[in-house]
Amino acid sequence: MKSRDEAGISAVLQSRIANSDAALRRYSPETTHVMEELLPPGIVAVERWDDDESAVLPPEERVQVSSAIESRLREFATARSCARQALSEIGFPPVPILRGSKGEPLWPAGVVGSITHCTHYRAAAVAMQTQVKAIGIDAEIHDALPMEVVNTVCVAEEIAWLQRASDCLHWDRILFSAKESVYKAWFPLTRRWLGFEQAAVRVEEAKNAFRVRPLVSLPVELEQTLTRLSGRFLVRNGFVMTAVYLT
Ligand SMILES: CC(C)(COP(=O)(O)OP(=O)(O)OC[C@H]1O[C@@H](n2cnc3c(N)ncnc32)[C@H](O)[C@@H]1OP(=O)(O)O)[C@@H](O)C(=O)NCCC(=O)NCCS
Repeated sequence: MKSRDEAGISAVLQSRIANSDAALRRYSPETTHVMEELLPPGIVAVERWDDDESAVLPPEERVQVSSAIESRLREFATARSCARQALSEIGFPPVPILRGSKGEPLWPAGVVGSITHCTHYRAAAVAMQTQVKAIGIDAEIHDALPMEVVNTVCVAEEIAWLQRASDCLHWDRILFSAKESVYKAWFPLTRRWLGFEQAAVRVEEAKNAFRVRPLVSLPVELEQTLTRLSGRFLVRNGFVMTAVYLT
């Protein structure tokens, strides 16, 4: 069963999240290898803080974004270029990475991976399926979420925690990003939708980590795996980065 408007929820939420100029002023393009810090050995991440003007899309990928506006084309091409670079580091040739029916990147057989992009930032992470079962990565500008978005994205226990949490970081944004990373790892494994209200994230501040408790029944064959869902977060350079992986 679909929980809320599966097709439109993210677009609606994103349209309500305006990133403030103040948040973007903390950005410096020199920072590198942030995503890598969140990931264990065996997962290769490649990131860029600008667009790769030389990135060329293979025709199969170009067709999939033929109606996209210029900025979307550039972020898509740059993230794909990051993905091909990451693939080459684990021994794969530069193949097209098409989009599946639910938007998921279709990796070569035997590979798992994830892609993210937001203002100024694009990244891809990949690993061999023999070592890693699933990866989800996400990047967001480190800024407060509008309250209406918090109420849509967070379950009651997360809202209660936000009210108690220190105000040193925008924990609401960290929760949002963590949940998007969860979905990117979850979907390719389960082929099921997971709404924001269908998982609870518990942040372990001192460890820069979080644990995930799915609030839906799990496919029997994946029960053990999915109850181990956890991830890590970093706030750097004006951005929140999160990563979820299952080994
Ligand atoms: C799919 C989703 C997570 C993408 O996040 P986003 O912040 O909008 O965008 P990002 O730039 O970080 O990520 C986009 C990339 O996610 C990947 N992606 C899209 N759909 C995906 C899916 N079903 N499974 C895995 N990855 C997916 C794609 O690679 C996409 O980039 P591309 O189109 O250039 O290939 C988001 O749009 C969404 O639908 N969220 C609702 C579901 C959710 O988050 N539930 C929370 C569960 S606790």
